[in-house]
Amino acid sequence: MVKALSEHWNSIFIKTEDTKMGWYEKSATQTLELLNLIPEWKKSTLFLAGAGTSMLCDDLAKTEATLVLNDISNEALERTKVRLGEKSKQINWLCQDIAEPVHGLNLKIDIWIDRAVLHFLTAESDIDGYFENLRSLLKVRGYAILAEFSEKGAQKCAGLDVHRYSLQELTTRLGEAFTLITHFEYTYVMPSGDPRPYLYTLYKKEA
Ligand SMILES: C[S@@+](CC[C@H](N)C(=O)[O-])C[C@H]1O[C@@H](n2cnc3c(N)ncnc32)[C@H](O)[C@@H]1O
Repeated sequence: MVKALSEHWNSIFIKTEDTKMGWYEKSATQTLELLNLIPEWKKSTLFLAGAGTSMLCDDLAKTEATLVLNDISNEALERTKVRLGEKSKQINWLCQDIAEPVHGLNLKIDIWIDRAVLHFLTAESDIDGYFENLRSLLKVRGYAILAEFSEKGAQKCAGLDVHRYSLQELTTRLGEAFTLITHFEYTYVMPSGDPRPYLYTLYKKEA
């Protein structure tokens, strides 16, 4: 199942140019807007749940932050590594299904960042596994940025069904240890011109 999923994503990354991906952003402006609300984020340890080939990686690699870039697709990670060149050597790379317990990471995370990854998990056990990872890897007083298809969003993406989120559902699934700092809705326009409504959220782990 994990193999089939990684092959699905690999085949997308093999056959599609970055700028043609249905989620391509020249600049991850909304994610950076939320990061800029977090004190000292440029010196923190950041975990990207599904980094893909996001240009956000380049912006983060220019800071003093310690980066952990995860993705289920080794093709996406390889492409990002090549683009980052020398800087890629300072990055912690992981190629894992984020619904499964994360292995081989000896770091605790200050900031968990997810744009358009969680919403691809549709089985309840996978969603639970994702939130288990988030809760266990994130330090107390750490932050989570979750940007997912909103309830107004599309029902499919990249040929897969998605699970769309309300603010209430994200808050409930994170649990009582998390406080909502801020949130906003943002409609991303795909390279094809189609609108994709997202819900952007920033939470703090208080305990
Ligand atoms: C829509 S893309 C978003 C990529 C990136 N976050 C961005 O904003 O450009 C979804 C990414 O999540 C990865 N992904 C999908 N399911 C995953 C899983 N179960 N575990 C880890 N990564 C996954 C895909 O390979 C892909 O890179």
